[in-house]
Amino acid sequence: MIDYVPLAYRVEPMRPEDIGEVMEIEHVAFSAPWSARAYDYELHYNEMARYYVARAQPAWAPAAAMSISDHEADTPPSFWRRLFGRNIRGPSHAPSMERSAVLGYSGLWLMVDEAHISTLASHPQWRRRGIGELLLLAMMDGSAEIGANIVTLEVRASNVAAQALYRKYGFQVAGRRKGYYSDNGEDALIMTTPQITTPEFVRHVQGLKRALFEHLAR
Ligand SMILES: CC(C)(COP(=O)(O)OP(=O)(O)OC[C@H]1O[C@@H](n2cnc3c(N)ncnc32)[C@H](O)[C@@H]1OP(=O)(O)O)[C@@H](O)C(=O)NCCC(=O)NCCS
Repeated sequence: MIDYVPLAYRVEPMRPEDIGEVMEIEHVAFSAPWSARAYDYELHYNEMARYYVARAQPAWAPAAAMSISDHEADTPPSFWRRLFGRNIRGPSHAPSMERSAVLGYSGLWLMVDEAHISTLASHPQWRRRGIGELLLLAMMDGSAEIGANIVTLEVRASNVAAQALYRKYGFQVAGRRKGYYSDNGEDALIMTTPQITTPEFVRHVQGLKRALFEHLAR
C-alpha cells in the first residue's frame, strides 16, 4: 500500500482561486506564458481538460510556502483514490489542514484516445525536489482514468530538463515541428508514450511511483 499522507507534497485539482498563484509561476517558467484568461477558460469550459496543482503538505511546509488559509473539505476522497490508487488515504482523512502555496501545476487535454499534456511547471525555487514528477504522475493516472491509450506532448528542443523527465516516464521522440514556438522560432519535439495500458508500462510507472513516494516521504 502506498499511503499518500506522509508525502511532503500533495496534488489536487486546480481551482479558479489558484489561477493567481499559477500565473506567478507561469511568468517565470515560460518565455511565452499563457494568460490567466486561458486558464480560466480551461477550468470552466474545457470538459476534456484536467488541471492539477501541487502544494507542500501544511505540517511540512516552511513559512514561505504557507500563504493561504483554508480547510481541506472540498476535495472528494474519490479524487485521491483515482489519483493514487485504491488503498490511498487522502487528505480528507488527515487532520484539518491549511492550504499552502502552489508550488507547481500541470494540465492535460483528452483528444480522442490521446492525452495531450498542455502544461507542466514547478516553481523555480522548488525544482529538483520531485514536484514535476509528482505532477506528471498525476497526469499519467488522469490520462488512464479518462480512457487515453497514449500520452503525448510538445517540448522545446532545448528543454533538456523536461525531456529528461519525460524520458524517465517512457516518452520517446516521435517527431519534430520546425519553428513551432513563435517567440524564438525554436523547434518542438513531439514526445509520446507507448500504449499506457500495457502491463509492462503500468509496471514501469508503478515502479517509478514507488521510488518517488519513498523519496518524498516526510
Ligand atoms: C521540467 C520541470 C517541470 C521539472 O520540474 P522539477 O520539479 O524540477 O522536476 P523533478 O524534481 O520532479 O525531477 C524529476 C526528473 O526530471 C528530470 N529533471 C528535472 N530537472 C532536470 C534538470 N535540470 N536536468 C536534467 N534532468 C532534470 C530528471 O529526470 C528528474 O529525475 P531524477 O531526479 O531522478 O534525476 C521544471 O524544470 C520546470 O518547471 N521547467 C520550466 C517549465 C517547463 O519547461 N515545462 C515543461 C514544458 S514541456
